[in-house]
Amino acid sequence: MRKKRIAILISGTGSNMAAIVKETQNGILKDVCRVELVLSNKYSAKGLQTAGELGVPTKVVPSKGKERENYDREVLQVLEPYQPDYIVLAGFMRILSPVFIRAYKNRIINIHPADTRQFQGVGGYEWAFENGLQETCITVHYVDEGVDTGPIIGQKKVDLRGAHSVDEVKARGLPIEHSFYSEVLKDVFSKNI
Ligand code: GRF
Repeated sequence: MRKKRIAILISGTGSNMAAIVKETQNGILKDVCRVELVLSNKYSAKGLQTAGELGVPTKVVPSKGKERENYDREVLQVLEPYQPDYIVLAGFMRILSPVFIRAYKNRIINIHPADTRQFQGVGGYEWAFENGLQETCITVHYVDEGVDTGPIIGQKKVDLRGAHSVDEVKARGLPIEHSFYSEVLKDVFSKNI
């Protein structure tokens, strides 16, 4: 049984990335995958330091001012030597071009903090709060050429009753993201081993 090789792409805090790395080191992902690289499009991403502290190699490919396809080709080149089986997006704030999607067809996975059938794009928790949702639904899905339109792999409800602020909504949702993402990845990778 070969462990899947994964690369995690981030742009910011990287709390989902850290949760996944920890599960590969000492948790439910231990026997199913290995994080070969954490890649960010921003030097300022806090998650880079976290990944370093967890002992995972990091790379930055700055995206600022770059044309989308050229950027994606650059990232593909950087990823090449790591030979990832899967690309795991964890707060990567860029839309991937068809060039990238086709290179890893059906092997790119994302977590979205809302039901992708109801809300796409940035600000899922803000949307849930502003609309007074009593619950929201975290979605893990394959990435296709649209924005948050790919096939849903798994969803998990978050109880938002009585939440008074966006911060409270996030504080309820994020811990659920952290455990749920690894659970879904485990299923996906185990089935394909
Ligand atoms: C998460 O809410 C995730 O669902 C969304 O972006 C956020 C990333 O947070 N795609 P973090 O960088 O993992 O802390």
